[in-house]
Amino acid sequence: GLDQRTVDIIKSTVPVLAEHGEAITKHFYQKMFKDHPELKNIFNQTHQKVGDQPRALADTVYAAAQHIDQLEKILPRVKEIAHKHRSLNVKPEHYPIVGEYLLIAIKDVLGENATDEIIEAWGEAYGLIADVFIQVEDGMYKETAR
Ligand code: HEM
Repeated sequence: GLDQRTVDIIKSTVPVLAEHGEAITKHFYQKMFKDHPELKNIFNQTHQKVGDQPRALADTVYAAAQHIDQLEKILPRVKEIAHKHRSLNVKPEHYPIVGEYLLIAIKDVLGENATDEIIEAWGEAYGLIADVFIQVEDGMYKETAR
């Protein structure tokens, strides 16, 4: 798990980030698709236009981060999202890519308040949250393959 200081940092920055969801929407997908055009194929299967993506991903990361010291609470929601991810063939190796661009977006939003400590804390938190998704999705893929 995360140490208490990291948990405190995460919980105190969630409201600031959640308030600035627009910046995430604007820059996150744009930058990610520019560097990783292969991901466009996954996202383009949906009805959403690129650049017009909802804030669902970032908002869910923030909601999960608020429960970072009791992640089992987000499992029901993760299972719902995992069905969608699975149908779109989202893979474990995609998570670090999304994490990288989410961290860049978080850094952008916090500006000069983005200390190394805060960015490291978010890197750890995202890693834990991503692991929950990867495990749930992996379990689903295995069930189908059986
Ligand atoms: C959809 C969260 C990682 C690709 C979603 C939705 C949420 C979400 C909340 C909307 C589900 C719904 O419609 O009910 C997250 C979180 C992630 C994550 C919290 C990381 C911890 C990823 C990764 C990929 C991905 C790594 C692949 C690169 C997608 C796609 C959709 C989606 C393509 C459908 C988009 C749409 O309907 O417009 N995700 N996601 N997600 N996610 Fe993720």
